Amino acid sequence: MSQSLENRPCGGRYGDIVQAIGNTPLVELKRLSPKPGVRIWAKLESHNPTGSIKDRVARAMIEDAEERGAIRPGQTILEPTSGNTGISLAMICSRKGYRLKVVMPDNVTPERTQLLKMYGAEIVYSPGDQGSNGAVAMALAMAEADASYYMPYQYGNAANPNAHYTGTAPEILRELDDDVSAFVAGLGTGGTLMGVARRFKEELGDAVKIVAAEPMQGEPVQGLRSLDDGFIPPIIDLSLLDRKIFVTNHDAIVWTRRLLDEEGIFAGVSSGAIASIAVRIAAEMDEGNVVFIVCDDGWKYLSSGLYTRPVDEIEKLDSTVWW
Ligand SMILES: Cc1ncc(COP(=O)(O)O)c(C=O)c1O
Repeated sequence: MSQSLENRPCGGRYGDIVQAIGNTPLVELKRLSPKPGVRIWAKLESHNPTGSIKDRVARAMIEDAEERGAIRPGQTILEPTSGNTGISLAMICSRKGYRLKVVMPDNVTPERTQLLKMYGAEIVYSPGDQGSNGAVAMALAMAEADASYYMPYQYGNAANPNAHYTGTAPEILRELDDDVSAFVAGLGTGGTLMGVARRFKEELGDAVKIVAAEPMQGEPVQGLRSLDDGFIPPIIDLSLLDRKIFVTNHDAIVWTRRLLDEEGIFAGVSSGAIASIAVRIAAEMDEGNVVFIVCDDGWKYLSSGLYTRPVDEIEKLDSTVWW
């Protein structure tokens, strides 16, 4: 393969923090590659301003609403989110002069609450045992009862996958000179998978395989969802996926630790889940580039002890401790 490692000396020059979203690094993980001819690349979305891939999506949804004249400064934006999208929206709304209310399960980690409050968002809690589906239902009911809210609704908003179609995907193609054999991402709203799949299939056809990492039903991995739970986000078109592979909590935890211990990547637990699938796909190939997404960094999960406690001890914990 021809790609050399070319690091750009600077990350660019931007007018403000919102413009500095995207253009994240692609880092090769040599120690995790099962074969010399197969290169595994992590797209570090943790390098976005608030530490997650959702900065791209939040900006795209707010700017799309602005362009359509659907929102005006001072208006309240309402969104159901168990974390990252809320944090990204909170930062962007604070920069652009909108008020933000987020609906999220009451068992999320204290770091998330603090991050949201830090950017000035108001939090409405939904029952933790109902997970993100409970937050979605509550926000939809609130929006129906009060027309002054604007709800971007990432699960059904085309600006979500478009942020990846116009941002994440072309950045990867540019870095790897269009040489991508497999792309692996987690299934949350489906925005990353759909946007990247559309772009990659247009540019590379069937030469690239699109693989979704989906949590086993009943084994919640923060940021990801099981379609077997009964809700398929409207932006998802399952025909764009070549494969959908189940991942367990055990693998998510073990691989989050392997990313840290073997490659120095301090990532959130969904990235461990996704990495486990990326390595499995790499093992099935003889050569080529496998790209996977590191959705967020580990700061928000620190209080769970995920990075310091023995793995078998973490496994025994109720998995909601790292929500
Ligand atoms: C930590 C984390 N991982 C993965 C995902 C999944 O991304 P997407 O919503 O694009 O499917 C999300 C988003 O919800 C997330 O917050």
